[in-house]
Amino acid sequence: MATNEAWPAQLGPVICVVGARPNFMKMAPILRAFATHRPSLPTLLVHTGQHYDRDMNDRLFDDLRLPHPDINLEVGSGTHALQTAEVMRRFEPVLDAQQPSCVLVVGDVNSTLACTLVCAKKAVPVVHVEAGLRSYDRAMPEEINRVLTDQIADRLYTTERSAHANLAREGVAEERVCFVGNVMIDSLLSNRESAHSAAKTLQMAGFDPAVVDDPRGYGVVTLHRPSNVDREENLAPLLAVLREVSDQVPLIFALHPRTRANIDRFSLGELLASERIVLLPPQGYLEMLGLLAGAKLVLSDSGGLQEETTALGVPCLTIRENTERPITVEQGTNTLVGCDPCAIRIGVNEILAGAGKTGRVPEFWDGRAAERIAADLFQWLIAHHAQRSR
Ligand code: UD1
Repeated sequence: MATNEAWPAQLGPVICVVGARPNFMKMAPILRAFATHRPSLPTLLVHTGQHYDRDMNDRLFDDLRLPHPDINLEVGSGTHALQTAEVMRRFEPVLDAQQPSCVLVVGDVNSTLACTLVCAKKAVPVVHVEAGLRSYDRAMPEEINRVLTDQIADRLYTTERSAHANLAREGVAEERVCFVGNVMIDSLLSNRESAHSAAKTLQMAGFDPAVVDDPRGYGVVTLHRPSNVDREENLAPLLAVLREVSDQVPLIFALHPRTRANIDRFSLGELLASERIVLLPPQGYLEMLGLLAGAKLVLSDSGGLQEETTALGVPCLTIRENTERPITVEQGTNTLVGCDPCAIRIGVNEILAGAGKTGRVPEFWDGRAAERIAADLFQWLIAHHAQRSR
């Protein structure tokens, strides 16, 4: 959206924070929209370094055409407390040096909350993209990150209308909240054409691409939630049911480093030793998009995949008891099956029998969410800083 106003000289840049894989697909369209908005919004990209290796980080930066971060805090892995504390410690001097007009955080990872907390104590406005989602499950670290970030944030952008009721319940004033749609779907739509085919991805990884020619199609699997993969008694039955499912439909399983490490630690590799289960490392964005788009079904505990499968019209069985993204169940292709092997089997059978959900694409998941954020944030920052300097 073009306005006649210029970016005020006294306003600092918008610091945009990314930390972990699910942040990257949200931030890419935002940075592009800020650059193309007239006037453009100056940005500074800060990477906390929560995810750092080639599979979890570099490939996604390349695929999403994200610019090289201006600053990398290089915190790496650690316990939640250590990771959060280290991001805070390293982010504070960045705020002091840059004097930003605001800090924009996305999603619900530890870096999201850590940077928000630093801003709160320094009176720097926080903008939260993907605000108001709630699983109402406080055992999920992400739920704590969401609730606390939203309490502190000054401007909150939502992906679905249910988020507004959640925020109202927690006393967040309505005028702080703005419904813009889903920036992750902006990324999906703008990269759909360049996604790699499943056959190419398998071939590049050294597997026989014929696996995806099965007449019943193929399934895609991801698992990484601590509640599913950190304890042998939870992980083993899940892997066993995946093995059963693979007799019906071949599976491509993109293994998160946490899951791979736990499979090794509990010596569960045998459960997955089948020609009909392809184990891949974490995938690049264009590979994953192609795998999902061509899949017959998806089995996952990821937050993002629930939304991406809904946008693609591919049935998704979510291996969790709850979701913070209810619109994917109500309108989209998502079904919560929990971690009960029986429910998983029933869900798979329904989909293979052609009775899977087809769903519809939710309101404002139209590829223009980041544009709406840029337009609103520009006006909001001008008004916010004018009020402050009075
Ligand atoms: C984090 C997010 C989660 C998100 C997920 C996607 C929080 C609380 N959780 O969980 O919301 O869905 O990312 O991946 O912020 N590791 C690597 N390479 C890396 C990064 C991590 O090998 O580049 C390994 C480390 O051994 C680490 C483990 O993966 O201990 C887990 O990483 P971590 O960032 O702690 O949490 P995730 O489980 O990835």
